[in-house]
Amino acid sequence: MQTKEMIERVSKQIGKPLSDTELSYKTQLVNEILEWKEKRNAVILGHNYMEPILYHTVTDFKGDSLELSRKAVETDKEVIVFCGVRFMAETAKILNPDKTVLLPSENAGCSLASSITGEHVRMLKKKFPGTPVVVYVNTYADVKAEADCCCTSSNAATVVKSLKSDRVIFLPDEFLAKNTARQIGRHIMFPKLVKSNGNEIEFDVNQDYQMIGWQGRCEVHERFTAEEVQEARKKFPDLVVLAHPECPPEVVEAADFAGSTTAMAKYVGKSDGRRYLLLTECAMGDNIAAIYPEKEIISLPRIRCPHMNQITLEATLKALKYNQYVIEVPEDIQMRARGAIQRMLELC
Ligand code: 13P
Ligand code: SF4
Repeated sequence: MQTKEMIERVSKQIGKPLSDTELSYKTQLVNEILEWKEKRNAVILGHNYMEPILYHTVTDFKGDSLELSRKAVETDKEVIVFCGVRFMAETAKILNPDKTVLLPSENAGCSLASSITGEHVRMLKKKFPGTPVVVYVNTYADVKAEADCCCTSSNAATVVKSLKSDRVIFLPDEFLAKNTARQIGRHIMFPKLVKSNGNEIEFDVNQDYQMIGWQGRCEVHERFTAEEVQEARKKFPDLVVLAHPECPPEVVEAADFAGSTTAMAKYVGKSDGRRYLLLTECAMGDNIAAIYPEKEIISLPRIRCPHMNQITLEATLKALKYNQYVIEVPEDIQMRARGAIQRMLELC
């Protein structure tokens, strides 16, 4: 299909048809990106939260964090343009130290990744010596470097169980940790940072717990509530509700299915419901709506991740043209973080 028709189709299917001027502007941008991608021998990886036109036209591979980590290992292209956020681009760099990895915006961070540092993990390891550390991929390289194994939202339970340890440190997402603990029947405890000196932690030694968590949160998923789900179900009794495991436990409990972004997309494709409520970042709902026009996808409330939102068609073109922004990770951190990521890829 020609670029113009593709853009026209996607924008109509998501209910946002473009004017002729917008259509010709976007078509030119997309064609320029495709030319530069060829010229630079680049591959474009796109997370499921990318805006629909970018997602459906310029990416070579789309997916959740786990799938994109795998694609980053497999590529033979010289340049990887990561249309996602910084921690994802860092993972691609760690797995491809000899390639150029570009992130189209300097400001595409993540509230979970910035909730914890390598220093925090070292503190926890000192308090709980010998306890294996699992870190969510939504962390920066210095945190991964302190971990025994990484996990994503699609394999957290498998990773924790595979460590065969009575106790596991699981960082940094409070809700993913609570949802995982519930799934595998473990108790979780959250140590507190002691504010007086800022680098000590406090915890209740008398508690019975098999997981030690951290109170990082996704600024998008923490905003969904179980009341909203109940309201929506009252209005639409045939509604199928899907939630990301970064949502609060009561929201996950109120949903019909919880899984990674790709797991949710696959669920919509395979099930025969007519109307779906997606409790995740709203661009994802649009991306699924463009694939399954016969199904109604509702994203209420619509919450856009301000970090994912930094990655536009314009920024992607500039990334390829001006070689920006190059992701660098110090050699020793890269080496240690690679071990934790590879362990996850081998396990799952
Ligand atoms: P996925 O691994 O499910 O794609 O999630 C990544 C993410 O950042 C969710 O907010
Ligand atoms: Fe981070 Fe949440 Fe944005 Fe995902 S949606 S990148 S977890 S802030």
